[in-house]
Amino acid sequence: MKRIGVLTGGGDAAGMNPALRAVVRTAWQHGAEVVGIKRGWRGLAEGDFEVMGPGSVSGILHQGGTVLRTFRYPEFATPAGTKPIARTLKKMKLDGMVVIGGDGSFRGADKLQREFGLPVVGVPATIDNDIPGTDISIGFDTALNIAIDAVDKIKDTATSHGRIFVIEVMGREYGLLAAQTAIATGAEEVFLPEIPFDLDEACRRIKAGYDRGKHHAIIIVAEGAGKASYVTFEIRERVKRDVRMAVLGHIQRGGSPSGYDRILASRLGHKATELLFEGKHGVMVGVVANKFKTSALVRKGKMKANAVLRDARLAELLS
Ligand code: F6P
Repeated sequence: MKRIGVLTGGGDAAGMNPALRAVVRTAWQHGAEVVGIKRGWRGLAEGDFEVMGPGSVSGILHQGGTVLRTFRYPEFATPAGTKPIARTLKKMKLDGMVVIGGDGSFRGADKLQREFGLPVVGVPATIDNDIPGTDISIGFDTALNIAIDAVDKIKDTATSHGRIFVIEVMGREYGLLAAQTAIATGAEEVFLPEIPFDLDEACRRIKAGYDRGKHHAIIIVAEGAGKASYVTFEIRERVKRDVRMAVLGHIQRGGSPSGYDRILASRLGHKATELLFEGKHGVMVGVVANKFKTSALVRKGKMKANAVLRDARLAELLS
C-alpha cells in the first residue's frame, strides 16, 4: 500500500475530523501517501483531491463537521454518475481507500470494491447510529448530548409556563437518538418509527400528569415517526392546553465532538487503516461489546430495532 485515499460522505457527523486525522497519521507511519478526496463521491467524480500529511490534519481534532467537506451524491448509483468516478480513479492510482460515512457512503464503498477492485474499509459515522455491525457510530454521542442540552433548556420554559412541548429529534428512519434523548431528559412521551403510537392514549397520560400536579409535558418525536407539526396540532386539539413545537434540526449535527466521539473516531480511523495494510478490506469496522468487529459494508435487512425497543420501554417506565 503506497497510496491510499480517504473521504467523508453523507451527512456530516461530529468526529469525522478525528477519524480523518487518525487515518492520515496511521498511513503516514506506514510510509504511505494519503490523498484526501474533497466533497465525498462528488469530489471523486470531479477529481477534487489533495495530498495530505500529518501537518494537514493538525488542529482539527476538536472541530465539528469535516474539513474534507461532504456532499450527497446519489448519482453514484447510476452509470452516468459512476463514469467520472472511474476516470478519476484511473488517474489517482490508489492502492486502497478509507470511507468515513453512513450507509449511503458504504453502498458507494461497496461498489468501489466490487466494480473497480479497489480495497476499501468503511468507518461508520452518522448521528443516526443506524448502521448494523456497530453498537455506535461516530457522531451519535455528540448529537445526543446536543439534543439533551436543548431539551433541558426547553423544559425550563415549559415548566415556567405550564406548557406542553413537542420536540422533533433527527435520526432519519431510526428512533434510537429520540429514544435515548427521551430517557436522558425524562420526557413524558416519545414517538418512534419502530412503535405505532396512540395519540388518544398519550393525551390521556398527559392530562393525568397535569392532574397529578405536573407543570409541563415534553413529547419527543423522532423525525421518522411523523411530522411534529401534526402531533402538535392533534395534542392541542385533545388536551386544550398551550402546546408549542421545536424542531432541533441540524443543530444536532454540528459542534465540537464529545470526548467519547473523539476517542471512538480516533480508534476506528486507526483500526480501519491498519486493516487496509493487513490486506483486510471490503468491510466496515465497528465496535461491538467494546471490541472491534469487521462486517460487510452493505447488509440486507432491518436496522437494530431491538436497541430502540429496549430504550423506548425504559423511557416509558421512568417517565
Ligand atoms: O443522516 C443524518 C441526518 O441528519 C438525518 O438524521 C436526517 O434525516 C438527514 O441527515 C438530513 O439530511 P440533510 O442534511 O441532507 O437534509
